[in-house]
Amino acid sequence: MELLAYRERFPILRETTYLINHSLGAMPAAAEERLAEYARVWATRGIRAWGEGWWTMPMTVGDQIGRIVGAPPGSVVMHQNVTVAEAIVLSCFDLRGERNRIVYEEPNFPSVRYLHQAQAARGGEIVVCPDDAGVVEALDERTLLVPISHVLFRNGEIQDVEAIVRRAHEVGALVLLDAYQSAGIVPLDVAALDVDFAVGGSVKWLCGGPGAGWLYVRPDLAERLEPTYVGWQAHARPFAFEPELEYAEGAPRFLTGTPNVSALYAATAGYDLIEEIGVEPIRERSLRQTELLIRLADEAGFEVGSPRDPARRGGTVTVRVPEFEAVHRELGERGILCDFRPDAGLRLGPHYYNSDEELVFAMEQIAEILETGAYERHLGAVARF
Ligand SMILES: Cc1ncc(COP(=O)(O)O)c(C=O)c1O
Repeated sequence: MELLAYRERFPILRETTYLINHSLGAMPAAAEERLAEYARVWATRGIRAWGEGWWTMPMTVGDQIGRIVGAPPGSVVMHQNVTVAEAIVLSCFDLRGERNRIVYEEPNFPSVRYLHQAQAARGGEIVVCPDDAGVVEALDERTLLVPISHVLFRNGEIQDVEAIVRRAHEVGALVLLDAYQSAGIVPLDVAALDVDFAVGGSVKWLCGGPGAGWLYVRPDLAERLEPTYVGWQAHARPFAFEPELEYAEGAPRFLTGTPNVSALYAATAGYDLIEEIGVEPIRERSLRQTELLIRLADEAGFEVGSPRDPARRGGTVTVRVPEFEAVHRELGERGILCDFRPDAGLRLGPHYYNSDEELVFAMEQIAEILETGAYERHLGAVARF
């Protein structure tokens, strides 16, 4: 099926030029049906719904994510977001021993950077590296955990995960991969990469909306690690209400309390489409469209911040133009949805349902806004998204 045929499944594409899929992917119409189904089950099945699928949703939905990211069945569980998932991973480790270093990359997403910085209060030694090559160099026997990004949020650069995993395992450290900016747009196989943990969310390329983060734990590690950030879903027999903790087998021991059921209903509509199409054809199209964006930016004389090398380029192209904050606001008023990041400029992230015409139109509009000075009335305005 021609990928453009999927456009009609996303209502917002009728009204906007939607190029912000690295931030909030378009909502599939089917998500609304799933949420209605959730309400129907709640209304008609009531308490029985827990036993009819709600309780196990963090695992069943996790298995669907597993099929997209190359994780075996039973190795992925769902959480509210990436930060919570990473906090559970961190809670497995005592940071007061000899091996207490957390080595991460400066361009990691701020939320997880804050979480890793905060581990200093538990005895962690935090080492920050400028890039992926710097991470490889910094790893030694003092390293406990290496939280890295597969694709950087700021400029869409793919990181050399293989080199980091190789070195980390040589020195006995564990790698925690943040695949938020890759899952659904760049092929990812967590088992083949041999990462120890992987996390991601659903808001972006998976088009699953907020509230459905995922955590993969390497199966052999899931058998022996004991998270201290834990709850009754992680118990071997949660409904026995036993007074003492006994961990569940495998990845479910990385769960906490009552699952985020409504978000899990909503999220699967986006996952279904990614599974149906497959990430490889999405990547093929994305590479062609990001190439087109780069060519259009070059022709317009705009500075491109994202990698030109396709092997290093994720789904987003950053374009630095003068007064990009004000240009972004004017684009928004014209129904062209993208965003910007400080030090990066405008971020344009087409997904499988965007047409080449939309990319040409967005670039033409940026040029026109700059030429006519239409951005000037927005100078000084503060934008938050
Ligand atoms: C690479 C990356 N990690 C994490 C997040 C978000 O983390 P959380 O799910 O904790 O909000 C984002 C974007 O929102 C991101 O781009």
